[in-house]
Amino acid sequence: MPGNNAGGFKGSTVPHTYHYMIDKINALKAEIENLTASTPEEAEQLRIKYLSKKGSVSLLFNDFRTVPAEEKREVGQLLNQLKNMATEKINLLKQQAASTADNAPADIDLTRTATRLPLGTRHPLSLVKNEIIDIFGRMGFTIAEGPEIEDDWHVFSSLNFPPDHPARDMQDTFFISRNPVDVLLRTHTSSVQTRVMENTQPPIRIVCPGRVYRNEAISARAHCFFHQVEGLYIDRNVSFADLKQALLYFARQMFGPETKIRLRPSYFPFTEPSAEMDISCDLCGGKGCAFCKGTGWVEILGCGMVDPNVLESCGIDSKEFTGYAFGMGVERIANLKYRVKDLRMFSENDLRFLREFEAAH
Ligand code: PHE
Repeated sequence: MPGNNAGGFKGSTVPHTYHYMIDKINALKAEIENLTASTPEEAEQLRIKYLSKKGSVSLLFNDFRTVPAEEKREVGQLLNQLKNMATEKINLLKQQAASTADNAPADIDLTRTATRLPLGTRHPLSLVKNEIIDIFGRMGFTIAEGPEIEDDWHVFSSLNFPPDHPARDMQDTFFISRNPVDVLLRTHTSSVQTRVMENTQPPIRIVCPGRVYRNEAISARAHCFFHQVEGLYIDRNVSFADLKQALLYFARQMFGPETKIRLRPSYFPFTEPSAEMDISCDLCGGKGCAFCKGTGWVEILGCGMVDPNVLESCGIDSKEFTGYAFGMGVERIANLKYRVKDLRMFSENDLRFLREFEAAH
């Protein structure tokens, strides 16, 4: 093939045939279409290589002079197209390389922490509830749950409430229907304990977290619903000393190793003896302050030995087994931990309040 070197035949007398030129044009076209440049400098090098006076496209124009006259028109058109295409392509490469160069950060710090995505936060009551469950979990307690809509038997009768006990009063309980049996919103999660005792023989060691309802006017200090974690342990030879030990462990895990507890005699229909437990006020260290009303102690839960009547009504032999039970309000514990002044904050979903607990995760 005549004159097939890339430098062309400047000043050559060998005439370039139609086919020679067409092949050359197509080959260059394919080559230029596939060009890439990652920097503007590289694009400039390509411009010099193809389009400068001595670039391969320009040299083809020299060859063009020797194309026979009758083919000049067609070859000339193709050659012009090639030149235009090459100019556009290389300009585009230059632009693209320049814009990526602009966008590239001066120096990329690969060790920088990622931008934080705004995630939701756990509700403070969930945080506290989970902590309570964890602490009792370490003592072997498992979780039991039950329905919020209950019947009289599971909330009251099985738990040794006399028929005329004030807690059954309309004042405290939301009734859903009273005919043929009382259906109501549970006032405590002791109903779950009844359900477990009815279906399981000891040893039983459970905590019952959940929402409970009481018919009270809503204020900063009371709400018509709140949350509880109640606990139940039944086995042979379970004693009051076991109860005290478990609650002391709980108080110290929850409020710190210096925490003291004190048990005061109390009354619940389902426990005998019954007690209320106070912890030393961690705000004043027990000296007495406004928070503990000068006493140095704050009440946190109710507890006692399960009344034998309760065991019997749930099908557990009270001569063989004894047990203890306790129950606490999650809001109360959360208040002691986080000093939330108004109980209503827990159910109003104010994001400014909820985000304060982000760090507690
Ligand atoms: N059920 C009681 C309440 O709701 C708490 C409690 C549970 C007290 C178990 C003693 C034993 O107030």
